[in-house]
Amino acid sequence: MNFENQRIVVAGGAGFVGGHLVRRLLEQGARVTVLDNFHTGSRATLAGLEGDRLSVVDHDVCAPLDMACDLVINLACPASPEHYQADPLQTWRTSVFGSANLVEMAQRHGARIVQASTSEVYGDPELHPQAETYWGNVSCTGPRACYDEGKRAAETYLLDMFREKNVDVRIARLFNTYGPGMAINDGRVVSNFVVQALRGEALTVFGDGTQTRSFCYVSDTVNGLLALAAGRGLQGQVFNIGNPDERSVLEIAELVRTLTGSAVAMRREPAAIDDPRRRCPDISRARQRLGWAPETALRDGLEMTIADFRGRLAAGAT
Ligand SMILES: NC(=O)c1ccc[n+]([C@@H]2O[C@H](COP(=O)([O-])OP(=O)(O)OC[C@H]3O[C@@H](n4cnc5c(N)ncnc54)[C@H](O)[C@@H]3O)[C@@H](O)[C@H]2O)c1
Repeated sequence: MNFENQRIVVAGGAGFVGGHLVRRLLEQGARVTVLDNFHTGSRATLAGLEGDRLSVVDHDVCAPLDMACDLVINLACPASPEHYQADPLQTWRTSVFGSANLVEMAQRHGARIVQASTSEVYGDPELHPQAETYWGNVSCTGPRACYDEGKRAAETYLLDMFREKNVDVRIARLFNTYGPGMAINDGRVVSNFVVQALRGEALTVFGDGTQTRSFCYVSDTVNGLLALAAGRGLQGQVFNIGNPDERSVLEIAELVRTLTGSAVAMRREPAAIDDPRRRCPDISRARQRLGWAPETALRDGLEMTIADFRGRLAAGAT
């Protein structure tokens, strides 16, 4: 798919990933409608972009809607545990009812839909690294279940819409993404460490810090989403989009201290309930079928992220 003049609905487009994605779609000549209820996103994310080819609609995707479109990209859902656990019922409704509303809209208009799912569908994995064929190890009763199980249920509904109704559904399981523009109060590890280091505060490490994550720079994640949206013959398929450069939380803390030039201490807090011990994507499928792989090294991505946070904090952002 060439995006020029395509009518593209980006649900959750006022959020962190959405802001970067919408910019790229507009650069490629798309006509974009952002649907967002500004729960964790903000109109400021899209400042300066609104015009002939971008409109922003205040809409909660839990409510049905109808809008002519060629492609729907569903990013709507808070992604940070702090935010998605603050209102678990709304998180579950957004994941499940929101995704159902969007895929039904895509069906009515013969549009394609790309769903932002998550590595959290693998839960606390017993298999490492995680390939798309792995079924996962997820608690359906814990405090993270609203998000993890909500995203799993959404995958089920969308893939049934593909099998039963022939809707062109594509699923991206995003792994931890970071970069400029993350909310200052996002609450995830990279932004927490960067904000704390720049403010001269101790870095909060949950658990013993040996748990691992794999961090993907936001432009790489957006490239993966665009490759999935544009590719031919990918309907009904699921892809890991993430960076296999696995690091412990302690390594990230050390790197942030070095790159910010801040000699702050580390402060230990108990591990979060159901926090995964290890997380690393197997991206063989994305390499082969999308021709995609991340390009930005962690150190380079962190430098760009730190520069952005430094600028915003200096300008008084909170
Ligand atoms: N960023 C990551 O590391 C990561 C990792 C895995 C999956 N994802 C997925 O990618 C998507 C985007 O993540 P993000 O980091 O940009 O998160 P974000 O919280 O910055 O953005 C989510 C956007 O969705 C909007 N939203 C939430 N509920 C809504 C609703 N009911 N109706 C309409 N809009 C709603 C928010 O206001 C926000 O603008 C999410 O679906 C998330 O689950 C992100």
